[in-house]
Amino acid sequence: MFKERTYCGEVAKHDAGKLLRLYGWVDRKRELGGITFIWLRDITGIVQLVIDTSTSSRNVVETAEALRNEYCIMVGGVVRLRAPEAINPNIPTGEVEIVVSEIAILSASELPPFAVDLHENPSEDLRLKYRYLDLRRSDMQEALIMRHRVCQVIRNYLSGKKFIEIETPMLNKSTPEGARDFLVPSRINKGMFYALPQSPQLFKQILMVSGFDRYFQIVKCFRDEDLRNDRQPEFTQVDLEMSFVDPPMIMEIIEGVLVEIVKAALGKDIGVPFEKISYDEAMARFGKDAPDMRFGLELRDVSDVFASSQFEAFASNVKSGGKIKVMPIPGGLKISRKMIDEYSEFVKVYRAKNLFWARYKAGAFEGGIAKYFSQNEQHALIERAAPSDDTLLFFVSDSAGVVNDALGNLRLKVGKDLDLVDPDALRFVWVTDFPLLEYSQEDGRFYSKHHPFTSPRVDHWNMLDTLTPENVDDIKAQAYDIVLNGVEIGGGSIRIFDTELQRKMFTILGIGEEEAKIKFSFLLEALKYGAPPHGGIALGLDRIMMLLLKRASIRDVIAFPKTQRGQCLMSEAPSYVSEEQLKELSIRTVEK
Ligand code: AMO
Repeated sequence: MFKERTYCGEVAKHDAGKLLRLYGWVDRKRELGGITFIWLRDITGIVQLVIDTSTSSRNVVETAEALRNEYCIMVGGVVRLRAPEAINPNIPTGEVEIVVSEIAILSASELPPFAVDLHENPSEDLRLKYRYLDLRRSDMQEALIMRHRVCQVIRNYLSGKKFIEIETPMLNKSTPEGARDFLVPSRINKGMFYALPQSPQLFKQILMVSGFDRYFQIVKCFRDEDLRNDRQPEFTQVDLEMSFVDPPMIMEIIEGVLVEIVKAALGKDIGVPFEKISYDEAMARFGKDAPDMRFGLELRDVSDVFASSQFEAFASNVKSGGKIKVMPIPGGLKISRKMIDEYSEFVKVYRAKNLFWARYKAGAFEGGIAKYFSQNEQHALIERAAPSDDTLLFFVSDSAGVVNDALGNLRLKVGKDLDLVDPDALRFVWVTDFPLLEYSQEDGRFYSKHHPFTSPRVDHWNMLDTLTPENVDDIKAQAYDIVLNGVEIGGGSIRIFDTELQRKMFTILGIGEEEAKIKFSFLLEALKYGAPPHGGIALGLDRIMMLLLKRASIRDVIAFPKTQRGQCLMSEAPSYVSEEQLKELSIRTVEK
């Protein structure tokens, strides 16, 4: 019965006169002078059905009468060209309709909690609870179909470049990769736990040792971290690893993949190679390691200009090792005092106590803190910040971290408020030369900036012997991120393939001999057996799809995502489990 099926969105003018059979859902129904019009919807689109009460059989008329939105039906009928005045240019099948001669209800539907068309805007919670209905909406179907296409071109492209897709285990040993692990208790090995992979990092390195040379995988990863619009507890990586490579080779492969992805998703050609900028330069100019380079408003360091300023807040901050940066906003004189007050509140979120400002107009500074500027400071500021004739300048004076955080985020906000961002631009940039480590004052220890397997730059190896919290930023890693429109869409590195260096890294990270042995003895052992030099990268597929489809959240490109609280509102995971299940696992919960 289902074999002779035609898809709704595929009915075309050349089908006129043909008897077709279609299956789908009632999108909407309206009556007009004894004629019933039904929009029938399936995964390919919508086609109009017509039932003329005066000429159709009684069975067809009665069935049509009973139809409500979201009923699942089968119809048979002849395709007819619409009269010119009845053509609907808004749907691809708008030139035809189907005169129904046969109709059957396959499955009735209750009144849906929200309309499946896009005119209604139900809350996200409601959409997630009734995800099966939400996924009938055209924007979700578009997202998932495009995601499928993108996965296809990724597989084709990488396969063409000698990459082999290999699955790696989901039940693993807990390893430190930055985020908290999701743990799975082992029933057979009481008291023991598996960890779900934060990424296939160790396994892909092992595959290199095994000689697989070029590996990739489109793979689920799990991280128990605080959730945001671009962060899910389970997300998908396009993960790859290569032997005998340097960063430019990996970048070339990724650029090739991204060219294919953008072409498949948007039909657009993007230029390669992408621009490269070092981590230090990104921080200096944009205050962020994932800079949005679609617009200007670049930051300038003016610490030296105000080192002995009569403006006490500036001078004393510089004296105590802090920084002062300015963000000049050309055309910024239209920013009102009220807006400036709002921006002052905004930077407090990023721990900046004050947002200072001055205007530059008709060749002179005025307002805000301008009265404190000496002649020399004014000259230096003009040179450094190159203000045009109607510029507002924002200053933050604090520790380097706070200055970058506050102005980096303020830059994004002002860019948006002043409409400086071209929403159609795709600005890819490589950020290179990341610091290898960072120091946490709070914990009094070093952490990997990327992960513990990342290789320092070869000429920086020796610096590890004289590492201190003060010079930690100077030791750079062979690590790189790929950024699109200010969002980190991927990151990778060249790996350590020398057992001794890897051991040294563990020591620096406070991972003792014993702990390293317990956690990754298999990697340390494997590195002893002719490990090839290797490196790789992983792309965040959800983030890429979110950006290309201009969706506000990665939840809108994932079929069954979790809420910010890590819940699936449809299946109601996570949930309590029975006492028996816990007993079997030898687990007792102390808190509910
Ligand atoms: P990294 O941790 O940088 O690298 O992750 C790679 C990319 O994955 C995406 N991503 C996420 N997307 C959604 N939700 C999350 N919670 C989330 N976390 C990360 C980001 C990120 O750039 N093993 C290394 C890769 C390597 O070195 O080869 C790794 O996992 O887009």
